[in-house]
Amino acid sequence: MRMYDIIVKKREGNILSEEEIRFFINGYTNGEIPDYQASALAMAIYFQGMNGKETAALTQAMVDSGEKIDLSDIEGHIVDKHSTGGVGDKVTFIIGPLVASLGVPVAKMSGRGLGHTGGTIDKLEAIEGFTTEITKEEFVRNVNTHKLAVAGQTGNLAPADKKLYALRDVTGTVNALSLIASSIMSKKLASGADSIVLDVKTGSGAFMKTVEDSEALAREMVTIGNELGKNTVAVISDMNQPLGFEVGNANEIKEAAEILKGSDVKDLRELSLEIASQMSVLAGAFDKPEAAREALEENISNGKAHAKLKEFIEAQHGAGEMIDDLSKLPQAEYHVEVPAETGGYVNEIDAESIGVAAMYLGAGRQTKDDKIDHSVGITLKKKIGDKVEEGEPLVVLHSNMKEPEDSVEKVKKAYTITSEKKEAPILLHNIIK
Ligand code: URA
Repeated sequence: MRMYDIIVKKREGNILSEEEIRFFINGYTNGEIPDYQASALAMAIYFQGMNGKETAALTQAMVDSGEKIDLSDIEGHIVDKHSTGGVGDKVTFIIGPLVASLGVPVAKMSGRGLGHTGGTIDKLEAIEGFTTEITKEEFVRNVNTHKLAVAGQTGNLAPADKKLYALRDVTGTVNALSLIASSIMSKKLASGADSIVLDVKTGSGAFMKTVEDSEALAREMVTIGNELGKNTVAVISDMNQPLGFEVGNANEIKEAAEILKGSDVKDLRELSLEIASQMSVLAGAFDKPEAAREALEENISNGKAHAKLKEFIEAQHGAGEMIDDLSKLPQAEYHVEVPAETGGYVNEIDAESIGVAAMYLGAGRQTKDDKIDHSVGITLKKKIGDKVEEGEPLVVLHSNMKEPEDSVEKVKKAYTITSEKKEAPILLHNIIK
């Protein structure tokens, strides 16, 4: 087999066999196939596409290129959830305890954040003592005992993806659907869950800006999951503005804990219940999402879901009293309001800019060695469709700098205020099975 022939075959729009795809991935991972040939193939795939079978074969080859997490010691059907990334996305801290409160095991591998979207682990570390650096044995024991554990991504998962993603990044081939889908799914599939719920974000603050593109990506990923024997469902959800009102670390944990206590932050509660319902159905706990939702709402009302959050935090060495009394979470020194310069209605909030403003405060990393300040962040006071008077605060910046000018400027530019009222964006666009 020759790499040259594989490139030409794809360039001409033909379908690659599983053997050819495996030959490419194995050869590229071990250094036998050079970057220039891998780039040529990535570009051919960009223009010619790949069908479902080819994409599944590419994903499996990338999964097989490294370590696979073996979760077979965990009792029950394990469901994982993955979000394509959004600002203010604290759904994991809600759905984890919620689903676990039904007795369904949730075993999550998570990462840290870089840039404008924060990482799950960074946010959890706002809780004093909490650690995701637990041994495999502790992870398995915690899931079996508490039905929920979150571990940092360690090991060498899908190294072929790591190498190929870096190459795509510099050769203009990131935005090929089959390459994005296989990249995301290879890491998920190597993490060992039995079923996966994908939260595919759509809108100005998302990787995919239109509903059509997000649905196409979701379909690719669902096909891969199902082809490779994992039940997979995708929820297409809005990211035209941050999710909920809080963006940061400690403040996001606070907002999530409040949802588990019954607070009604509409978009955040709704999306969390939808994802948790889909997870519970995939795990076989319920036949229909509606029945699952009823049970999940009941576990919010009766306090079981909130108690599960505290139990999980304590099992991973965190200070459970911070969950009982949220004012004990890290607090910033200054609370700086950013006032509206004109009155009207909020028409747009550029989610990415809000994320960047939070990063400037220290809530995120600009470079991978930056240290996170868990106490800082942003509270949105106005969301799309809200009426605002001139001088009324759009957001409050929680800052350890007295005058966080860069963040103030970024927030001002993020908001568009018009005289006409715009309806709040649709939260859930579609569910793809
Ligand atoms: N995220 C990934 O992990 N891979 C891609 O290709 C794009 C986004």
